[in-house]
Amino acid sequence: MPPRRTSSGRLLYAQSGGVTAVINATAAGVIEAARAKGVPVYAARNGILGALREELIDTGKETKAAIAALRHTPGGAFGSCRYKLKSLEANRAEYERLIEVFRAHDIRWFLYNGGNDSADTALKISQLGKAMDYDIRCIGVPKTVDNDLAVTDCCPGFGSVAKYTAVSTLEASLDVASMADTSTKVFILEVMGRHAGWIAAAAGLAGESADEPPHLILFPERSFDEAAFLARVKATVERVGWCTVVASEGIRDADGRFLAEAGTRDAFGHTQLGGVAPVLAALVKEKLGYKYHWALPDYLQRSARHLASRTDAEQAYAVGRAAVDYALAGMNAVMPVIVRSSDAPYRWKVEPAPLHKIANREKKMPSGFLTRDGFGITVAARRYLAPLIQGEAHPPHGSDGLPRYGRLKNTSVAKKLPSFEH
Ligand code: F6P
Repeated sequence: MPPRRTSSGRLLYAQSGGVTAVINATAAGVIEAARAKGVPVYAARNGILGALREELIDTGKETKAAIAALRHTPGGAFGSCRYKLKSLEANRAEYERLIEVFRAHDIRWFLYNGGNDSADTALKISQLGKAMDYDIRCIGVPKTVDNDLAVTDCCPGFGSVAKYTAVSTLEASLDVASMADTSTKVFILEVMGRHAGWIAAAAGLAGESADEPPHLILFPERSFDEAAFLARVKATVERVGWCTVVASEGIRDADGRFLAEAGTRDAFGHTQLGGVAPVLAALVKEKLGYKYHWALPDYLQRSARHLASRTDAEQAYAVGRAAVDYALAGMNAVMPVIVRSSDAPYRWKVEPAPLHKIANREKKMPSGFLTRDGFGITVAARRYLAPLIQGEAHPPHGSDGLPRYGRLKNTSVAKKLPSFEH
Protein backbone atom coordinates (compact mmCIF):
# COMPACT_ATOMS: atom_id res chain seq x y z
CA MET A 1 0.00 0.00 0.00
CA PRO A 2 1.51 3.36 -0.98
CA PRO A 3 1.64 5.80 1.98
CA ARG A 4 -1.15 8.38 2.08
CA ARG A 5 -0.23 12.01 1.53
CA THR A 6 -0.55 14.13 4.63
CA SER A 7 -1.18 17.45 2.87
CA SER A 8 -0.68 19.28 -0.41
CA GLY A 9 2.56 21.08 -1.10
CA ARG A 10 5.93 20.59 -2.76
CA LEU A 11 8.96 18.52 -1.98
CA LEU A 12 12.40 20.15 -2.02
CA TYR A 13 15.45 18.00 -2.77
CA ALA A 14 19.06 19.13 -2.37
CA GLN A 15 22.48 17.55 -2.80
CA SER A 16 25.23 18.25 -0.32
CA GLY A 17 28.94 17.67 0.24
CA GLY A 18 31.31 15.80 -2.07
CA VAL A 19 29.36 14.27 -4.94
CA THR A 20 29.60 10.64 -6.10
CA ALA A 21 29.17 8.49 -9.18
CA VAL A 22 25.64 7.60 -8.09
CA ILE A 23 24.16 10.55 -6.16
CA ASN A 24 22.10 11.40 -9.23
CA ALA A 25 20.58 7.90 -9.10
CA THR A 26 19.21 8.95 -5.72
CA ALA A 27 17.85 12.14 -7.31
CA ALA A 28 16.15 9.98 -9.96
CA GLY A 29 14.64 7.81 -7.21
CA VAL A 30 13.31 10.87 -5.40
CA ILE A 31 11.82 12.53 -8.47
CA GLU A 32 10.32 9.38 -9.98
CA ALA A 33 8.75 8.31 -6.67
CA ALA A 34 7.31 11.77 -6.05
CA ARG A 35 5.98 12.05 -9.60
CA ALA A 36 4.26 8.71 -9.24
CA LYS A 37 2.37 10.17 -6.26
CA GLY A 38 1.61 13.45 -7.97
CA VAL A 39 3.91 15.49 -5.73
CA PRO A 40 5.82 18.30 -7.46
CA VAL A 41 9.58 18.40 -6.78
CA TYR A 42 11.80 21.45 -6.64
CA ALA A 43 15.57 21.07 -6.31
CA ALA A 44 17.80 23.58 -4.54
CA ARG A 45 20.69 24.88 -6.62
CA ASN A 46 23.98 24.09 -4.82
CA GLY A 47 22.52 22.41 -1.78
CA ILE A 48 21.27 24.33 1.22
CA LEU A 49 22.65 27.53 -0.31
CA GLY A 50 19.99 27.33 -3.02
CA ALA A 51 17.32 27.15 -0.32
CA LEU A 52 18.78 30.18 1.49
CA ARG A 53 19.20 32.18 -1.71
CA GLU A 54 15.81 31.09 -3.08
CA GLU A 55 17.57 29.57 -6.07
CA LEU A 56 15.18 26.76 -6.81
CA ILE A 57 14.86 24.51 -9.84
CA ASP A 58 11.58 23.15 -11.15
CA THR A 59 12.23 19.46 -11.92
CA GLY A 60 8.72 19.31 -13.38
CA LYS A 61 10.17 20.93 -16.52
CA GLU A 62 12.36 17.87 -17.15
CA THR A 63 11.24 15.00 -19.35
CA LYS A 64 10.83 11.46 -18.04
CA ALA A 65 13.87 10.43 -20.12
CA ALA A 66 16.03 13.22 -18.65
CA ILE A 67 15.19 12.10 -15.11
CA ALA A 68 15.82 8.45 -16.01
CA ALA A 69 19.26 9.41 -17.42
CA LEU A 70 20.24 10.69 -13.97
CA ARG A 71 20.51 7.03 -12.96
CA HIS A 72 23.69 6.67 -15.00
CA THR A 73 25.12 10.21 -14.79
CA PRO A 74 27.87 11.10 -12.27
CA GLY A 75 28.37 14.44 -10.50
CA GLY A 76 25.62 16.44 -8.80
CA ALA A 77 22.91 17.38 -11.30
CA PHE A 78 21.67 20.34 -9.23
CA GLY A 79 24.99 21.43 -7.76
CA SER A 80 26.23 20.70 -4.25
CA CYS A 81 27.93 22.66 -1.48
CA ARG A 82 29.75 22.45 1.80
CA TYR A 83 27.95 24.89 4.05
CA LYS A 84 27.37 24.50 7.76
CA LEU A 85 24.24 25.93 9.32
CA LYS A 86 24.99 27.23 12.80
CA SER A 87 22.65 26.36 15.66
CA LEU A 88 19.24 28.01 15.87
CA GLU A 89 20.45 30.14 18.79
CA ALA A 90 23.61 31.25 16.94
CA ASN A 91 21.97 32.21 13.65
CA ARG A 92 18.21 32.40 13.88
CA ALA A 93 18.08 34.60 10.79
CA GLU A 94 19.21 31.74 8.52
CA TYR A 95 16.48 29.47 9.82
CA GLU A 96 13.86 32.16 9.53
CA ARG A 97 14.97 32.65 5.96
CA LEU A 98 14.65 28.94 5.21
CA ILE A 99 11.12 28.88 6.58
CA GLU A 100 10.31 32.03 4.61
CA VAL A 101 11.48 30.33 1.40
CA PHE A 102 9.67 27.10 2.26
CA ARG A 103 6.48 29.04 2.99
CA ALA A 104 6.71 31.15 -0.17
CA HIS A 105 6.97 28.02 -2.33
CA ASP A 106 4.74 25.74 -0.28
CA ILE A 107 7.61 23.38 0.52
CA ARG A 108 6.29 20.76 2.95
CA TRP A 109 9.01 18.12 2.64
CA PHE A 110 12.76 18.69 2.52
CA LEU A 111 15.11 15.87 1.48
CA TYR A 112 18.80 16.54 2.09
CA ASN A 113 21.17 14.13 0.34
CA GLY A 114 24.61 14.06 1.95
CA GLY A 115 27.09 12.69 4.50
CA ASN A 116 27.37 13.11 8.27
CA ASP A 117 27.72 16.91 8.24
CA SER A 118 24.65 17.13 5.99
CA ALA A 119 22.75 14.80 8.31
CA ASP A 120 23.40 17.43 10.98
CA THR A 121 21.90 20.12 8.74
CA ALA A 122 18.90 17.87 8.04
CA LEU A 123 18.44 17.24 11.75
CA LYS A 124 18.47 20.97 12.52
CA ILE A 125 15.88 21.64 9.82
CA SER A 126 13.71 18.77 11.04
CA GLN A 127 13.44 20.57 14.38
CA LEU A 128 12.37 23.83 12.79
CA GLY A 129 8.72 22.97 12.30
CA LYS A 130 7.98 23.13 16.02
CA ALA A 131 10.31 26.04 16.72
CA MET A 132 8.87 28.19 13.94
CA ASP A 133 5.34 26.92 13.66
CA TYR A 134 5.59 25.66 10.11
CA ASP A 135 4.76 22.13 9.05
CA ILE A 136 7.97 20.89 7.43
CA ARG A 137 9.18 17.27 7.37
CA CYS A 138 12.86 16.70 6.82
CA ILE A 139 14.50 13.46 5.73
CA GLY A 140 18.28 12.97 5.46
CA VAL A 141 19.26 10.84 2.46
CA PRO A 142 22.60 8.99 2.71
CA LYS A 143 25.53 9.58 0.39
CA THR A 144 29.28 9.55 0.81
CA VAL A 145 32.19 7.79 -0.84
CA ASP A 146 33.87 7.77 2.58
CA ASN A 147 31.38 5.13 3.85
CA ASP A 148 31.61 6.66 7.31
CA LEU A 149 27.92 7.16 8.16
CA ALA A 150 26.77 5.43 11.32
CA VAL A 151 23.90 2.90 11.42
CA THR A 152 23.64 2.13 7.69
CA ASP A 153 25.34 -1.02 6.34
CA CYS A 154 27.08 1.12 3.73
CA CYS A 155 26.74 4.50 2.06
CA PRO A 156 25.56 5.02 -1.51
CA GLY A 157 28.61 6.17 -3.47
CA PHE A 158 31.01 3.91 -1.61
CA GLY A 159 30.43 0.68 -3.55
CA SER A 160 31.38 2.39 -6.80
CA VAL A 161 34.54 4.06 -5.49
CA ALA A 162 35.42 0.72 -3.85
CA LYS A 163 35.06 -1.04 -7.20
CA TYR A 164 37.14 1.62 -8.96
CA THR A 165 39.86 1.31 -6.32
CA ALA A 166 40.00 -2.51 -6.37
CA VAL A 167 40.04 -2.62 -10.18
CA SER A 168 42.67 0.14 -10.45
CA THR A 169 44.89 -1.60 -7.92
CA LEU A 170 44.65 -4.82 -9.91
CA GLU A 171 45.29 -3.21 -13.28
CA ALA A 172 48.16 -0.94 -12.23
CA SER A 173 49.80 -3.88 -10.46
CA LEU A 174 49.78 -5.93 -13.67
CA ASP A 175 51.60 -3.01 -15.29
CA VAL A 176 54.21 -2.71 -12.52
CA ALA A 177 54.80 -6.48 -12.47
CA SER A 178 55.57 -6.46 -16.21
CA MET A 179 58.58 -4.17 -15.98
CA ALA A 180 59.78 -4.50 -12.40
CA ASP A 181 62.96 -6.29 -13.38
CA THR A 182 64.42 -3.24 -15.13
CA SER A 183 62.10 -0.39 -14.16
CA THR A 184 59.57 0.58 -11.45
CA LYS A 185 59.67 -1.48 -8.25
CA VAL A 186 57.14 0.39 -6.13
CA PHE A 187 53.72 1.75 -7.07
CA ILE A 188 51.77 3.89 -4.61
CA LEU A 189 48.05 4.62 -5.04
CA GLU A 190 46.50 7.30 -2.84
CA VAL A 191 42.78 7.13 -2.19
CA MET A 192 40.17 9.35 -0.52
CA GLY A 193 38.18 8.57 2.60
CA ARG A 194 39.19 11.35 4.96
CA HIS A 195 39.48 9.89 8.50
CA ALA A 196 38.15 6.42 7.64
CA GLY A 197 39.98 3.70 5.74
CA TRP A 198 37.05 2.11 3.93
CA ILE A 199 38.16 3.05 0.42
CA ALA A 200 41.74 1.96 1.08
CA ALA A 201 40.39 -1.31 2.47
CA ALA A 202 38.46 -1.95 -0.74
CA ALA A 203 41.79 -2.10 -2.61
CA GLY A 204 42.41 -5.27 -0.62
CA LEU A 205 39.77 -7.03 -2.71
CA ALA A 206 42.23 -6.96 -5.65
CA GLY A 207 44.28 -9.85 -4.24
CA GLU A 208 44.08 -12.55 -1.61
CA SER A 209 47.51 -13.96 -0.73
CA ALA A 210 50.42 -12.02 0.80
CA ASP A 211 52.22 -11.97 -2.55
CA GLU A 212 49.24 -10.52 -4.43
CA PRO A 213 48.67 -6.77 -4.65
CA PRO A 214 48.10 -4.63 -2.72
CA HIS A 215 51.04 -5.72 -0.58
CA LEU A 216 50.49 -2.92 1.93
CA ILE A 217 47.48 -0.80 2.80
CA LEU A 218 47.96 2.26 4.99
CA PHE A 219 44.87 3.11 7.04
CA PRO A 220 44.03 6.30 8.94
CA GLU A 221 42.90 4.04 11.77
CA ARG A 222 46.59 3.12 12.43
CA SER A 223 49.35 5.65 12.99
CA PHE A 224 52.03 5.61 10.33
CA ASP A 225 55.20 3.78 11.39
CA GLU A 226 57.94 4.75 8.95
CA ALA A 227 60.37 1.97 9.91
CA ALA A 228 57.73 -0.77 9.68
CA PHE A 229 56.50 0.62 6.34
CA LEU A 230 59.98 0.69 4.79
CA ALA A 231 60.84 -2.76 6.12
CA ARG A 232 57.66 -4.20 4.60
CA VAL A 233 58.24 -2.52 1.23
CA LYS A 234 61.84 -3.80 1.11
CA ALA A 235 60.85 -7.35 2.09
CA THR A 236 58.09 -7.38 -0.55
CA VAL A 237 60.39 -6.16 -3.33
CA GLU A 238 62.99 -8.75 -2.36
CA ARG A 239 60.42 -11.56 -2.26
CA VAL A 240 57.98 -10.64 -5.06
CA GLY A 241 60.14 -8.35 -7.20
CA TRP A 242 57.87 -5.31 -6.83
CA CYS A 243 55.40 -3.80 -4.40
CA THR A 244 52.00 -2.08 -4.62
CA VAL A 245 51.05 0.23 -1.75
CA VAL A 246 47.59 1.74 -1.26
CA ALA A 247 47.55 4.73 1.09
CA SER A 248 44.57 6.53 2.51
CA GLU A 249 44.77 10.30 2.22
CA GLY A 250 44.07 10.56 5.97
CA ILE A 251 47.08 8.72 7.42
CA ARG A 252 48.76 10.44 10.38
CA ASP A 253 52.03 10.10 12.24
CA ALA A 254 52.26 9.00 15.88
CA ASP A 255 51.60 12.60 16.99
CA GLY A 256 48.34 12.69 15.05
CA ARG A 257 49.64 14.96 12.29
CA PHE A 258 48.43 14.22 8.77
CA LEU A 259 51.30 13.15 6.51
CA ALA A 260 49.86 15.41 3.81
CA GLU A 261 47.56 18.40 4.16
CA ALA A 262 46.74 20.75 1.31
CA GLY A 263 46.74 23.69 3.74
CA THR A 264 43.06 24.64 3.40
CA ARG A 265 39.95 23.92 5.44
CA ASP A 266 36.34 23.58 4.32
CA ALA A 267 33.25 25.14 5.87
CA PHE A 268 33.02 22.31 8.39
CA GLY A 269 36.58 22.89 9.55
CA HIS A 270 37.88 19.73 7.84
CA THR A 271 41.46 19.92 6.66
CA GLN A 272 41.72 19.41 2.91
CA LEU A 273 43.74 16.25 2.45
CA GLY A 274 45.74 15.00 -0.49
CA GLY A 275 49.34 14.42 -1.51
CA VAL A 276 50.35 11.55 0.73
CA ALA A 277 51.51 9.38 -2.21
CA PRO A 278 54.39 11.66 -3.27
CA VAL A 279 55.49 11.94 0.38
CA LEU A 280 55.67 8.14 0.65
CA ALA A 281 57.32 7.83 -2.77
CA ALA A 282 60.07 10.28 -1.79
CA LEU A 283 60.65 8.23 1.36
CA VAL A 284 60.94 5.00 -0.62
CA LYS A 285 63.41 6.60 -3.01
CA GLU A 286 65.51 8.23 -0.31
CA LYS A 287 65.67 5.29 2.11
CA LEU A 288 65.46 2.28 -0.22
CA GLY A 289 66.56 3.70 -3.57
CA TYR A 290 63.76 2.03 -5.56
CA LYS A 291 62.30 3.54 -8.71
CA TYR A 292 58.65 4.39 -8.08
CA HIS A 293 55.44 5.70 -9.63
CA TRP A 294 52.54 7.11 -7.69
CA ALA A 295 48.98 8.03 -8.59
CA LEU A 296 46.37 10.23 -7.02
CA PRO A 297 43.02 9.54 -8.69
CA ASP A 298 41.39 12.29 -6.61
CA TYR A 299 38.04 13.20 -8.26
CA LEU A 300 38.52 10.45 -10.87
CA GLN A 301 37.68 7.88 -8.20
CA ARG A 302 34.44 9.44 -6.99
CA SER A 303 33.15 10.31 -10.47
CA ALA A 304 34.01 7.04 -12.23
CA ARG A 305 30.49 6.16 -13.30
CA HIS A 306 31.84 3.98 -16.15
CA LEU A 307 33.03 1.52 -13.49
CA ALA A 308 30.13 1.85 -11.03
CA SER A 309 28.98 -1.04 -8.89
CA ARG A 310 25.48 -2.17 -9.84
CA THR A 311 24.74 -2.88 -6.18
CA ASP A 312 25.71 0.68 -5.30
CA ALA A 313 23.66 2.20 -8.12
CA GLU A 314 20.62 0.18 -7.03
CA GLN A 315 21.02 1.17 -3.39
CA ALA A 316 21.42 4.84 -4.32
CA TYR A 317 18.16 4.72 -6.26
CA ALA A 318 16.36 2.79 -3.52
CA VAL A 319 17.20 5.27 -0.73
CA GLY A 320 15.85 8.11 -2.90
CA ARG A 321 12.52 6.33 -3.36
CA ALA A 322 12.33 5.36 0.31
CA ALA A 323 12.99 8.95 1.41
CA VAL A 324 9.92 10.08 -0.53
CA ASP A 325 7.81 7.32 1.01
CA TYR A 326 8.92 8.31 4.50
CA ALA A 327 8.32 12.02 3.90
CA LEU A 328 4.85 11.51 2.46
CA ALA A 329 3.99 9.15 5.29
CA GLY A 330 4.63 12.08 7.63
CA MET A 331 7.96 10.91 9.06
CA ASN A 332 10.48 13.49 10.22
CA ALA A 333 14.15 13.48 11.28
CA VAL A 334 14.89 10.07 9.82
CA MET A 335 17.23 8.69 7.17
CA PRO A 336 16.60 5.67 4.94
CA VAL A 337 19.48 3.32 5.79
CA ILE A 338 20.61 0.04 4.26
CA VAL A 339 20.16 -3.00 6.45
CA ARG A 340 22.07 -6.19 5.55
CA SER A 341 20.53 -9.55 6.30
CA SER A 342 23.05 -11.77 4.50
CA ASP A 343 26.58 -11.47 3.02
CA ALA A 344 26.47 -14.14 0.32
CA PRO A 345 24.15 -13.79 -1.40
CA TYR A 346 24.05 -10.15 -0.37
CA ARG A 347 20.56 -9.35 0.89
CA TRP A 348 19.59 -5.87 1.96
CA LYS A 349 16.58 -3.68 2.52
CA VAL A 350 15.98 -0.02 3.31
CA GLU A 351 14.61 1.06 6.69
CA PRO A 352 14.18 4.41 8.48
CA ALA A 353 16.72 5.29 11.21
CA PRO A 354 16.67 8.36 13.49
CA LEU A 355 18.88 11.18 12.20
CA HIS A 356 20.22 11.98 15.65
CA LYS A 357 21.97 8.59 15.66
CA ILE A 358 23.77 9.50 12.43
CA ALA A 359 24.46 13.26 12.44
CA ASN A 360 28.06 14.25 13.19
CA ARG A 361 29.24 10.69 13.83
CA GLU A 362 32.06 9.04 11.88
CA LYS A 363 32.09 5.27 11.42
CA LYS A 364 35.67 4.06 11.10
CA MET A 365 36.98 0.62 10.16
CA PRO A 366 36.46 -1.75 13.12
CA SER A 367 39.71 -3.24 14.42
CA GLY A 368 38.49 -6.72 13.45
CA PHE A 369 38.67 -5.63 9.78
CA LEU A 370 42.42 -4.86 9.94
CA THR A 371 45.12 -7.52 10.07
CA ARG A 372 47.27 -7.64 13.20
CA ASP A 373 50.19 -5.87 11.49
CA GLY A 374 47.81 -3.12 10.34
CA PHE A 375 48.79 -3.45 6.66
CA GLY A 376 45.92 -5.52 5.30
CA ILE A 377 42.28 -6.56 5.58
CA THR A 378 40.86 -9.61 7.34
CA VAL A 379 38.43 -12.24 6.12
CA ALA A 380 35.65 -10.39 7.97
CA ALA A 381 36.45 -7.20 6.03
CA ARG A 382 36.36 -9.11 2.73
CA ARG A 383 33.01 -10.60 3.66
CA TYR A 384 31.66 -7.11 4.32
CA LEU A 385 33.22 -5.41 1.28
CA ALA A 386 32.87 -8.04 -1.45
CA PRO A 387 29.13 -7.71 -2.13
CA LEU A 388 29.29 -3.92 -2.34
CA ILE A 389 31.29 -3.96 -5.59
CA GLN A 390 29.14 -6.65 -7.19
CA GLY A 391 27.72 -6.14 -10.64
CA GLU A 392 28.28 -3.66 -13.42
CA ALA A 393 26.03 -0.77 -14.37
CA HIS A 394 27.64 0.54 -17.54
CA PRO A 395 26.25 3.82 -18.86
CA PRO A 396 25.06 3.76 -22.47
CA HIS A 397 27.71 4.86 -24.98
CA GLY A 398 27.36 6.76 -28.24
CA SER A 399 29.02 6.00 -31.58
CA ASP A 400 31.77 8.49 -30.61
CA GLY A 401 32.82 6.07 -27.90
CA LEU A 402 31.82 8.37 -25.06
CA PRO A 403 29.21 7.72 -22.35
CA ARG A 404 25.84 9.37 -22.98
CA TYR A 405 25.51 11.26 -19.73
CA GLY A 406 22.33 13.20 -19.08
CA ARG A 407 22.11 16.96 -18.79
CA LEU A 408 19.13 18.70 -17.21
CA LYS A 409 17.61 22.02 -18.24
CA ASN A 410 17.54 23.11 -14.59
CA THR A 411 14.82 25.71 -15.14
CA SER A 412 14.78 28.30 -12.34
CA VAL A 413 11.65 28.95 -10.33
CA ALA A 414 10.71 32.66 -10.26
CA LYS A 415 11.80 34.29 -7.01
CA LYS A 416 9.13 35.66 -4.71
CA LEU A 417 11.29 37.16 -1.96
CA PRO A 418 13.92 39.85 -1.56
CA SER A 419 17.51 38.58 -1.61
CA PHE A 420 19.18 37.40 1.58
CA GLU A 421 22.72 38.04 2.84
CA HIS A 422 24.20 35.00 4.56
O1 F6P B 1 33.70 13.60 1.78
C1 F6P B 1 33.99 12.98 0.58
C2 F6P B 1 35.34 13.39 0.06
O2 F6P B 1 35.42 12.90 -1.24
C3 F6P B 1 36.53 12.97 0.92
O3 F6P B 1 36.92 11.65 0.71
C4 F6P B 1 37.56 13.98 0.49
O4 F6P B 1 38.57 14.14 1.47
C5 F6P B 1 36.75 15.20 0.36
O5 F6P B 1 35.44 14.80 0.00
C6 F6P B 1 37.20 16.19 -0.66
O6 F6P B 1 36.37 17.29 -0.54
P1 F6P B 1 36.36 18.54 -1.52
O7 F6P B 1 35.93 18.03 -2.88
O8 F6P B 1 35.36 19.48 -0.93
O9 F6P B 1 37.76 19.09 -1.52
